Amino acid sequence: MKEKLQAIFKEKFGTDSVVYASAGRINLIGEHTDYNGGFVFPGAIDKYIMAAININGTDKVRAYSADLDKFAEFGLNEADAPAEQWARYIFGVCRETIKRGGTVKGFDTVFAGNVPLGAGLSSSAALESAFAFALNDLFNDNKIDKFELAKIGQSTEHNYCGVNCGIMDQFASVFGKKNCLIRLDCRSLEYEYFPFDAKGYKLVLLDSKVKHELVDSPYNKRRESCERVAKALGVETLRDASIEMLNGIKDQISQEDYNRAEYVIDEKQRVLDVCDALQKGDFETVGDRMYKTHEGMSKLYEVSCVELDYLNDIAKECGVTGSRIMGGGFGGCTINLVKEELYDHFIATAKAKFNEKYGHEPVVIDVIISDGAHKVVD
Ligand code: GLA
Repeated sequence: MKEKLQAIFKEKFGTDSVVYASAGRINLIGEHTDYNGGFVFPGAIDKYIMAAININGTDKVRAYSADLDKFAEFGLNEADAPAEQWARYIFGVCRETIKRGGTVKGFDTVFAGNVPLGAGLSSSAALESAFAFALNDLFNDNKIDKFELAKIGQSTEHNYCGVNCGIMDQFASVFGKKNCLIRLDCRSLEYEYFPFDAKGYKLVLLDSKVKHELVDSPYNKRRESCERVAKALGVETLRDASIEMLNGIKDQISQEDYNRAEYVIDEKQRVLDVCDALQKGDFETVGDRMYKTHEGMSKLYEVSCVELDYLNDIAKECGVTGSRIMGGGFGGCTINLVKEELYDHFIATAKAKFNEKYGHEPVVIDVIISDGAHKVVD
């Protein structure tokens, strides 16, 4: 992809360019916990967004999306925000870098990627992190630390894309390390790399290709529920809440808010259980918690959908060790921990059954845990 992007860059802008990349992510467990100060357990994957870039000596950014075959040009002041969503990610990263005292000058860029869109693999975080990393290298002598790079991406989502997301996706995209999952404590931002060596198992994603366009920003609504409950409990985030505490205020909050908070409190513990189990090589416990997460996301947090519930049921019927909806929800994919000897049977069954019911097969995405943001050298 590097040579291809550089060739397109030369054709469009007439100069050489440097190439940067950042990765999409999976998350083994710990969903909707990041903005609640809880734990997450993601890793970067071998699917990237790559950007060829060169400084252009003006005060304008000229960006070409090779995948969309679209071009945008914008300045670097707040009033220069482009209308196109894809360009707003790049603009947001520029603005958030500048807001933190960083330098950004005009540049040209051509970018493309192979992170499946809408599958819950954080293609937008990969895009943000690739540019945050690039601007740090090109204009700021790499003086902006890695956490700040992740926060630049997160603030881009908040301030330029309307998603009040947590830090997980950008964190994973920036900090990703080959063959390692990362347990992040989203309250203290302490993190630990866990080598992921599931001998005899495969991690596979099944993309339902379903994306439910929901009105009302349901993601932001979930976050608001959690914040309401935290407020009612008098704690900063649900990280500091227990089920006993929640039961103590049950009559002061709606059933819906109760359910949301119950899920988050349970999920917090499940991440810790999975990390312990992984260290002992106890994949049965890992898988059990994955199924419990799915159930919670479906019944209590209500971010699943019939298609993803169906994929989860098929996994269970096939004897798959662990399976759950991954990412923010409302469509996308399931992540499955499958014994190698079951893999072929599971994939064939899932394809046939899903196709029979929904008229198309889910897309199989094999992932390798890989490095996060970097400069692409030969
Ligand atoms: C999206 C958000 C993340 C996180 C997940 C759910 O991917 O960007 O911050 O909240 O949903 O775990």
